[in-house]
Amino acid sequence: MGNKGKILVVDDEESLREICREALVEHGYEVVEAKNGIEAIECLKNDKDIDIVLSDLNMPEMDGMALIDYINRHNLDVELIVMTGFGTIETAVEVMKKGALDYIPKPFYLNHLLVKIDSAIERRQEKKQRERLNKLVQILKLNRDLNAKLNLSSLLNEFLFHVERTFSPDGTAIFLKEDHTYSPSRIRGEFKKNPILIKKIKEIAEYLINKGGRSLLYIPGKVEDEDLMANGKLADISKQLMICPLISKSGIIGAVCLIRSLDSLDFNFDDLQLLNVFCSQTAAILENAQLYGRVLEMNREIIRSLAKAVEAKDSYTKGHSDQVAYYAVKLGRKLGLNSDELDKLYWAGIVHDVGKIGIPDNILNKPGKLTDEEFEIMKRHPVIGKEILSQIESLKDIMPIIYHHHERVDGRGYPEKMKGEDIPFLARLISVVDAYDAMTSDRAYRKAMPPSKAAAILEDGAGAMWDEELVDYWLRVLKQEKKI
Ligand SMILES: [Fe+2]
Repeated sequence: MGNKGKILVVDDEESLREICREALVEHGYEVVEAKNGIEAIECLKNDKDIDIVLSDLNMPEMDGMALIDYINRHNLDVELIVMTGFGTIETAVEVMKKGALDYIPKPFYLNHLLVKIDSAIERRQEKKQRERLNKLVQILKLNRDLNAKLNLSSLLNEFLFHVERTFSPDGTAIFLKEDHTYSPSRIRGEFKKNPILIKKIKEIAEYLINKGGRSLLYIPGKVEDEDLMANGKLADISKQLMICPLISKSGIIGAVCLIRSLDSLDFNFDDLQLLNVFCSQTAAILENAQLYGRVLEMNREIIRSLAKAVEAKDSYTKGHSDQVAYYAVKLGRKLGLNSDELDKLYWAGIVHDVGKIGIPDNILNKPGKLTDEEFEIMKRHPVIGKEILSQIESLKDIMPIIYHHHERVDGRGYPEKMKGEDIPFLARLISVVDAYDAMTSDRAYRKAMPPSKAAAILEDGAGAMWDEELVDYWLRVLKQEKKI
């Protein structure tokens, strides 16, 4: 039996098939035969190892052109060489246009045929190698991009981006395990419009997960799945479907489902294999992100309660941290900051005064003006805040905002007496809204000011206490909201 490759010879003339078979087998090829397009399609369906289809054009029942159309429509992974008995240039051009690799006019010398088959096999191997390399590059790119992300949501988006670019599905769904059930974490494309379909696909995905996490390629009428067909789960699915589990060290954490309509190119087993590699690459990173998210959430809960504890020390500052967070995000939005920065602003707002936990109550709640000595103690709160936050890995990013939220652009603030743009941008931003909220709320030593008065003070201090541009933007926000 040959091992150079497998050739499907399609011709209605038995004698010609025989001559081709003998020559090819002698030359080290394996040969299968069909006498028309219909038989050839049967062979292609049943035998995924065929490398080259060597086909006649004129045949009864289904001719060569129809066979080429079928191969193209189903995106079959074979090379085509056409034998043409009426070898005109027009016919040759037409079959080449349709994607045939080569043609050979009849009658031909067997040597000539063998040279063409050899070179087709060589080109096919080179193509396969390129594809493998390409896949490897895609996998490496996915890995690189995923590793740059820690946050679950951006990880899922990155994964989806790679999946959609590689497989061009009409719909994608990612199910992730939460507690003991699987829920859709991302739904895209066709799935969005079709809640019934997503429900069915979820059932299939869960069934496969319970069966140990096997993957599935389903193309109605072509690639079927006995087990799922037997229990009717695929009964109403009139789409091509690929499902791969997300398996990490601790087990199956979810599944990825892709659909494509039947008139699109077919998914194939190579696609399924690549999707499986994508999923196994991603599962471990996703699991880490889930754990990281949970730890982050726990930390944040601790921090939130810490911020509340500070407010409890001083009845006048109740709600101040929430309010600063709210204003900071509002101003950040006005400036067009991205979601990462808005997130930082929110948390910085919540915890900006967390260091006050270390300031004695009698100073915090003093009704009158602080003495110089008391003020020196009060000035320590950003330093204490920094110390607290440095214990929490997930909040290290916002530490500079907390540490510098009392700097002034003229360099007369604290704790570092930083000037202008040396002060971190988000710290300068917090400083503006912090001052605004402080002025417009009741304090132990004075009543709340009306927004217009606070705005005038901000305008006055712009360029000295606060960043001029940021004050300007904040006043625009207030005007927009008809506060001033
Ligand atoms: Fe403060």
